Amino acid sequence: MTPQEEILQLRKELELHNYNYYVLNKPTISDYDFDQMMHRLEDLEMFYPQYADPNSPTQRVGSDLNQTFKSVPHKYPMLSLANTYSEADVRDFYERVKTGLEGEDFEICAEMKYDGLSISLTYVDGLLTQAVTRGDGVRGDDVTGNVRMIRSIPLRLKEGSGYPHEFEIRGEILMPWTSFEKLNEQRAKAEEDLFANPRNAASGTLKSQKSRVVAERGLDAYLYYLLGDEIPADGGHYENLQMAAQWGFKISQGMKKCKSIDEVLAFINYWDTERKNLPVATDGIVLKVNSLRQQRHLGYTAKSPRWAIAYKFKAERACTRLNEVTYQVGRTGAITPVANMDPVQLAGTMVKRASLHNADIIRQLDLHIGDMVYVEKGGEIIPKVVGVDTSQRTAEMQPVQFITTCPECGTPLVRIEGEAAHYCPNDSTCPPQIKGRIEHFISRRAMNIDSLGPETVDDYWQRGLIHNVADLYGLTVADICGHNRGRIKSAQKVIDSIEASKQVPFERVVFALGIRFVGETTAKLLARAFKSMEALEHATLEQLLDVDGVGGVIAESIIHYFHDPHCLEILGRLREAGLQMALSEEALAGQTDKLQGLSIVISGVFAHHSRDEYKELIEKHGGKNVGSISKKTSFILAGDNMGPAKLEKAQKLGVKIMNEEEFLQMLD
Ligand code: IVH
Repeated sequence: MTPQEEILQLRKELELHNYNYYVLNKPTISDYDFDQMMHRLEDLEMFYPQYADPNSPTQRVGSDLNQTFKSVPHKYPMLSLANTYSEADVRDFYERVKTGLEGEDFEICAEMKYDGLSISLTYVDGLLTQAVTRGDGVRGDDVTGNVRMIRSIPLRLKEGSGYPHEFEIRGEILMPWTSFEKLNEQRAKAEEDLFANPRNAASGTLKSQKSRVVAERGLDAYLYYLLGDEIPADGGHYENLQMAAQWGFKISQGMKKCKSIDEVLAFINYWDTERKNLPVATDGIVLKVNSLRQQRHLGYTAKSPRWAIAYKFKAERACTRLNEVTYQVGRTGAITPVANMDPVQLAGTMVKRASLHNADIIRQLDLHIGDMVYVEKGGEIIPKVVGVDTSQRTAEMQPVQFITTCPECGTPLVRIEGEAAHYCPNDSTCPPQIKGRIEHFISRRAMNIDSLGPETVDDYWQRGLIHNVADLYGLTVADICGHNRGRIKSAQKVIDSIEASKQVPFERVVFALGIRFVGETTAKLLARAFKSMEALEHATLEQLLDVDGVGGVIAESIIHYFHDPHCLEILGRLREAGLQMALSEEALAGQTDKLQGLSIVISGVFAHHSRDEYKELIEKHGGKNVGSISKKTSFILAGDNMGPAKLEKAQKLGVKIMNEEEFLQMLD
């Protein structure tokens, strides 16, 4: 066999195994054997680059290059479906169809309604050529590069399976529950915000600039709608999709042709509970008139087809007794009320606590202790109390009174004008606030003292070793070990990473202090503008407000911090410990005011630096990197493939466009 023949054969075999694994969920070889074949193909392709093919199974690992998404028009608009929520609505739909078809027999194809992101795929000569998001239904984003990383979407259709020369197929991109849980676990470890539900996670992933991210996150896709001039137009939707399955697509699970309204309702009832066993999120059932000829006869309203409807499942709801409202105190002193209830089974888990968010919500619900409350789990993971069964309330039940003092330290609570939350103002001795601040201080994006975590902080605090962040720098191995000599090695590690944090750059020290409203970005702006802690400490309100991006609330919070004797004491000790209290020589050297006051949009793909590097350069020279083009934009730093929509907007507003070389020359 020639190398070329072997390459072609390996590709074909790997495509088949991909299909068996990701589409059919029925692998026929071991992961090990699959990997061996893949490595062999990778080696061959590396040796014989003349046989490279972007559709090769080896090309599904993604890249770290930044991409941007072009807005493109849909060939056929992407319509949505009318929603219904009750059996009565479904019966009405059935009757409307019957009337519309003037007594002709008809079948309804019932299938799952997937809760992800809709996507439209175009295939030409059996190859995936384009993948576009729904967008506004008329135009969407071209996300082909990312969609190519989804293993259940075929890059090449099965040879000889009879697919048309050109067609579109639409469906839903989803993140399976298992991938979703794994991803959130990783994010929790990295102290990143969690995704609220698989749909948000899938959407965030699909819009990622790096295709490698998509390749790693295990997205899946189910296809449910075929269209194009060459698609058989006289058969049925169900039959067409079965055909698509032969070409290599993963289609809706459990599709069924129903011949009566009773069959339709039985299908809905069955899946209302059975859907919990599916690997992906579903939020209803879609009902479609099966015959394509009858579909054409029924036609469309302005917004949606008359031949289809979406029945949405009710969010799962349970009723249980409210026993107590407890209150949690966060790092900033914000108070969160929590409903403690009799344990109840809800959407597969036992629920006994639910967030009540704030005092307003409690008042709106008119909650009484002992009430029977309705708890719902919508698309979100955390359950919420959505209502009260007042018919079960008795005269002796007392309304929930929001606390007036901090449950942890007893200080009277305050409520800031215009904010929903209550706060405990005692930031110097209230335990959860202290511990929360220490946890923030050591976190990865702040001082990055990674050998410490919430449990160790709690342990040290309980043992009286630390009362604030400055105490960390006085710790010794002996302190940490206490009587337990077995801890020496790990104690030394802690001491080492505390020592290493003394080199963390100034802007992160500013962030680590945990000044209210001063996040990472603001900390950077402040560090750049004032260059040292000393200058920042003595900045006046006017000077602070002069910094682009710093408004009244932030400025006052900073002033407040630097007027607090307790904060100043801690700051003094941190300075003595040797933390970076000013921008380094290096940072100062490269810094200029060349872009002072300019708002710059970055767009496209660049040759000399990454987008992040350009962002850093802009900030270093006093400019501001902004996300979208407006009249206030000073200029656009444009690389290759700048989106046509952006280009048009820039021209309309008369915003200057600068290429990479011009920009670098300007800074030089
Ligand atoms: S058919 C013209 N089938 O629900 C009909 N849609 O508002 C095209 N969806 O935007 C859609 N599962 O994103 C169809 N089995 C299914 C579906 C489905 C989920 C989504 C789709 C659409 C929305 C309907």
